[in-house]
Amino acid sequence: MQKFVYEYATKVYFGEGAAKEHLAAAVSAYGPHVMLAYGGGSVKKNGIYDEVKSILEGAGKEVTDFSGIMSNPTYAKVQEGAQLAKKEHIDFILAVGGGSVIDCCKIVAAQAKTDKDLWEMEMTDHQFPSEVIPMGAIVTASGTGAEMNGGAVITNEEKVIKAGMAAAAPRFAILDPAYTMSVPRMQVISGAFDTLSHAMETYFGNSDADNVSDDVALAVMRNTVVNMKRLMGNIDDIQARGNLMWDSAMAENGILKVGRVTDFQCHQMEHQLGAYTDCNHGQGLAVIHPAYYRHIAKDAEEKFARLGQEVFGVDTAEKAVEAMADFIRECGLPTKMSELRSKTEITPELLRNVADSCNIIKSNPRELSHDEIYDILMECM
Ligand code: NZQ
Ligand code: ZN
Repeated sequence: MQKFVYEYATKVYFGEGAAKEHLAAAVSAYGPHVMLAYGGGSVKKNGIYDEVKSILEGAGKEVTDFSGIMSNPTYAKVQEGAQLAKKEHIDFILAVGGGSVIDCCKIVAAQAKTDKDLWEMEMTDHQFPSEVIPMGAIVTASGTGAEMNGGAVITNEEKVIKAGMAAAAPRFAILDPAYTMSVPRMQVISGAFDTLSHAMETYFGNSDADNVSDDVALAVMRNTVVNMKRLMGNIDDIQARGNLMWDSAMAENGILKVGRVTDFQCHQMEHQLGAYTDCNHGQGLAVIHPAYYRHIAKDAEEKFARLGQEVFGVDTAEKAVEAMADFIRECGLPTKMSELRSKTEITPELLRNVADSCNIIKSNPRELSHDEIYDILMECM
């Protein structure tokens, strides 16, 4: 194990009825002006918005809506939220949604407390926000684990970069599996594949010795695969959705990263693909993962074989990668770029740009070149 400091910043309320039971008390420590942030309207259709708003009003809060946060949230949307938060003197931000809403709110919370341009501050000056508006998250679609970490993935449309920014983690997260029951099948499976990817990308970091975090990561992967299979049999299985909700939080709350370095090269490729297209995050990962792992399997043969044995019941590195690719097909996830239903056509030229602007990870089984990334992406065509 490498040296580590681990702090668990987010209080989690898990289970059916968690908002009714805990939300009023959870927000009681904060001032009266609450920003209620959400996406394109699913929360209005499924009744979550009404339920949450009435709990907040019942707790004496004045609620300001911040709506229309899109999937793959943009930096422009962050600025809109920050201006609104300043204008309304917001004391607390409540993000109600999936990773996109939660990520957007994390950066709104930081941008509202500074006049500096947060993107420039973080990306150019490598300075990170010291003050934020406190926030909480109510998860309505699981997969990213955004509710339990301080990172946020934001698309800067002007610069054509989708990148991770740093902010503060939510003070609390409400995880009610019943709130996810209206998430469409394909989004549920895509989100769960994102969770599997987080655990795999953490596990494949180039740490020189096995450690307890690897064992925990393998357990999270196994549980994610088992529950995805359960959901494919019955998409309304609330137990399976609940297990996946906690797998999602576990995979990105930092616990799997304790004492080790991580890979996350596949995420870098997918994020940059997301900067050029509007593709769904989990689906982009499903397309790229097999091609990436075919490239690096020989550089971490033992680890791939162990993953094969413990997650898919096969015994070699090569079979592990193919078992994962078969699982992706079995789930009905996209397997090629053309199946990503991007509004922007994915051409070799676009993939060249993605490869050339992709962040290179140095702590994975083998450092890739931009040309190799291009080859990997082209194999997904
Ligand atoms: O916008 P609405 O109308 O709410 O619809 C959303 C959206 O269309 C819908 N949805 C959410 N809850 C629902 C629901 N539909 C019906 N019933 C419900 N209860 O689901 C769709 C997808 O939502 P979104 O938040 O975009 O998906 P996801 O949770 O997969 O988040 C993706 C974003 O998170 C980033 C991704 O890059 C992407 O931008 N990530 C954030 C991470 C983090 N902060 O730790 C880590 C990840 O690796 C990831 O990069
Ligand atoms: Zn992800």
